[in-house]
Amino acid sequence: MVQTTSHTAALLKRQQQVLLPAQNRMLYYGDQPLAVAKAKDQYLWDVEGNRYLDFFGGILTVSIGHCNDEVVEATVKQLQTVGHTSTLYLNEVTIKVAEKIAAITPGRLQYSFFTNSGTEADELAVLAARIYTGNTDIIALRHAYSGRSLSMMSMTAHAPWRLGNVFDGAIKHVRSPYYYRAPVAMSEADFLELCVRDLEELITTCTNGRIAAFMAEPIQGVGGFVVAPQDYFKRILPLVKQAGGLLIIDEVQTGWGRTGRYWCGIEHWGVEPDIITFAKGIANGMPVGCTVMTPEVAEAVKGLTLSTFGGNPVAMASAYATISYIEKRRLWENAEVQGARLRERLLAMQASHQFIGDVRGLGLMQGLELVVPGGKTPDATRAMALLAAARRRGLLIGRGGLYGNVIRIAPHLNVSSADIEAGCELLMLALADVAG
Ligand SMILES: Cc1ncc(COP(=O)(O)O)c(C=O)c1O
Repeated sequence: MVQTTSHTAALLKRQQQVLLPAQNRMLYYGDQPLAVAKAKDQYLWDVEGNRYLDFFGGILTVSIGHCNDEVVEATVKQLQTVGHTSTLYLNEVTIKVAEKIAAITPGRLQYSFFTNSGTEADELAVLAARIYTGNTDIIALRHAYSGRSLSMMSMTAHAPWRLGNVFDGAIKHVRSPYYYRAPVAMSEADFLELCVRDLEELITTCTNGRIAAFMAEPIQGVGGFVVAPQDYFKRILPLVKQAGGLLIIDEVQTGWGRTGRYWCGIEHWGVEPDIITFAKGIANGMPVGCTVMTPEVAEAVKGLTLSTFGGNPVAMASAYATISYIEKRRLWENAEVQGARLRERLLAMQASHQFIGDVRGLGLMQGLELVVPGGKTPDATRAMALLAAARRRGLLIGRGGLYGNVIRIAPHLNVSSADIEAGCELLMLALADVAG
């Protein structure tokens, strides 16, 4: 069992004096937050000396383990060679990352622009779609999370993340393909029809019939690892195209082999997006956002653009090392194999705990939706308790979902069978702790 002392409390007090209260409200574990001392590979240590097995990776960002030796070496080497130039000059490492992205992304995606966050990557995607199509309206999904700029907060469909009277009236939200929360009991096929009809109706009633884009995460991350029905994207794509829109896929959480079998999550649904956005796991924790688009969309973005820090050589060296590490070891395969192992263990846990209403996800992106037994009422209180119990047992997991009742589990892509087993043992103990 982990121990906490006054060291953490002192740090919390200092943070509360100088960091935005809205940020402090996001701290896990209430008045005993986790204060990080160091991390290596699958482990993270707090300032009290407790070691944790990390199954959340800084929100699916530390994709190949903390302080991964190959990434650290490439990053330090670049920092000692040239640290910053801006996008006014050529940097080979940036070109190499863009070449890799053009080679591995599905379809005809070719031109990348690098920024520093998922928010910025999504901003450019929307901008490019509006310029290319000449249309304004963007359709997003309820339960989506797209970032924290004003327009990405407008895309986001969770009330607590939309404070400040977000103002983009050209963004319309359609039903999320969240089958577990279908409005009434129905088959998955009927639910799919409901989602498709909702999109049709939204386009015909809330737009002028022409849209710039439909933007979605293949698996809604912050939304609670919501996986769309298998035919979902194939069914909505013709409607989007008929209305003149582009398909923008946000792979900020699902990219880089996370969902198993493929580089990109959307490949499970067999459609080719016009624009994909990446961030989080692309550089194992260094700040990188990327928007990659087809040649015709890229050509349409006339005028000038620049990002002072975007595509900077140090972040690009981290990205190149991360992508190469994943590629050399074919980690999308490990994500599929270890994800199946994890899934099997989670389903066994569900069988012995009625408060686990749903187990869902793909690859190493698995969620547990906690409910009041006997129905589907979300149980955020137990989810909070489970998070804390797991931490006391030495396991870090995440929480999400509109109702705060979904446990998010996302080990690093190079996780071993032994670590999956160890993590599941700790999770089982934590579940027993909160079962009473
Ligand atoms: C799917 C998705 N898109 C965009 C973002 C925004 O990324 P960032 O926090 O890097 O701006 C996030 C962040 O969690 C995300 O999950």
